[in-house]
Amino acid sequence: MSASNIWISDLTHYYNKKQTSPTLDNINLTIPKGQLTALIGRSGCGKSTLLQMLAGLLIPTEGAVRINGHTVYKPNAKWNMMFQKPSLYPWMTVRENAALSLVFSGTYKGNEERVENLLDMVGLTEHKDKNVQQLSGGQQQRVALARSLAAEPEVLLLDEPFSALDAFTRAQLQTEVAQICHDQGITMVLVTHDIEEAVAMADKVVIMNHNPGRIVGSLEVPVEYPRDRSAPKFIELKEQLFAEFEKIDQAKQAELEQKAS
Ligand SMILES: Nc1ncnc2c1ncn2[C@@H]1O[C@H](COP(=O)(O)OP(=O)(O)OP(=O)(O)O)[C@@H](O)[C@H]1O
Ligand SMILES: [Mg+2]
Repeated sequence: MSASNIWISDLTHYYNKKQTSPTLDNINLTIPKGQLTALIGRSGCGKSTLLQMLAGLLIPTEGAVRINGHTVYKPNAKWNMMFQKPSLYPWMTVRENAALSLVFSGTYKGNEERVENLLDMVGLTEHKDKNVQQLSGGQQQRVALARSLAAEPEVLLLDEPFSALDAFTRAQLQTEVAQICHDQGITMVLVTHDIEEAVAMADKVVIMNHNPGRIVGSLEVPVEYPRDRSAPKFIELKEQLFAEFEKIDQAKQAELEQKAS
C-alpha cells in the first residue's frame, strides 16, 4: 500500500458543550496519496465541518487529522481549499487573482509562465486582462481553480464548488478538475450532495450519516478518467450509490421513529 496522505483518526467534534450528540462521531478515514475522494451526505451531516478540519481551519474536540505524517492544526499553502463561491478580489484582473497565492508567497516573479499556462488550461485565454467582475459565475470559478492550482497544492479540498453553476458548465468543470487532480497526483477531497458529481469525479465515495455525523458506507469507482457518463458501468455505479444512500437513509428514519415512540 502507498504511503497515506490524509489520515483521520478517532475524530469527534462538538461545536458546544450543550450538544447531546456530537456533530462528528468517531470518524476514521485514510485517504491515500493522489486518491480522489468524495464525501456525500445529507445537509447538516458534518461534511463542511470535516473538510474545515482537513484544511486546518477548525480543530476537532477529540482525535486528529494528519497529513503526510504531520498533525494538522493550522492552514497550509499546500492544502488548498476551494469554496462554493470563488471569493475573488473584485478590483483585480483575472491574471492578478490567479497569481495571488504566488504573490503572497513572494514567488510570482519567475513563475509568471505557470499562471499563464493555468489560465489557458482552464479556458480563460481571452479573459486574462479583464476585471473578474466582467466574468460569468463559471468563469470566476475557473479563476479560483487556476489560483488554487498555481500554489501547486498536494491536497485540494473542494466544498461544493460547482453547485451554483448551470448543469453544462458544472459537468464540464467536474470532468476537468478530476482529470487535473488525477494527472498531477493531487489528493482531492470533495464535499457534495450530488450523486452524479461524486461518481463523475471520485475514485472512492464515502457516505456520511447525520445526527451524529458518522461514516456509514463507501463505494469504489473503478472507472478511468475521463469518464463517459452514458457508459453502462457509470450508470450502474450511480444507481448503486443511490441505492446504498437510500438504504442508509431509511435505516436512519426507522431509528428516529423508534426513538420518538
Ligand atoms: N460554527 C458552528 N457553530 C455551531 N454549530 C455549527 C457550526 N457550523 C455548523 N454547525 C452545525 O454542525 C452541523 C454540521 O454542519 P456542516 O456545515 O458541517 O454540515 P454539512 O454536511 O456541510 O451541510 P450542508 O450540506 O448543508 O452544507 C449542523 O447541524 C450545523 O448546524
Ligand atoms: Mg456544507
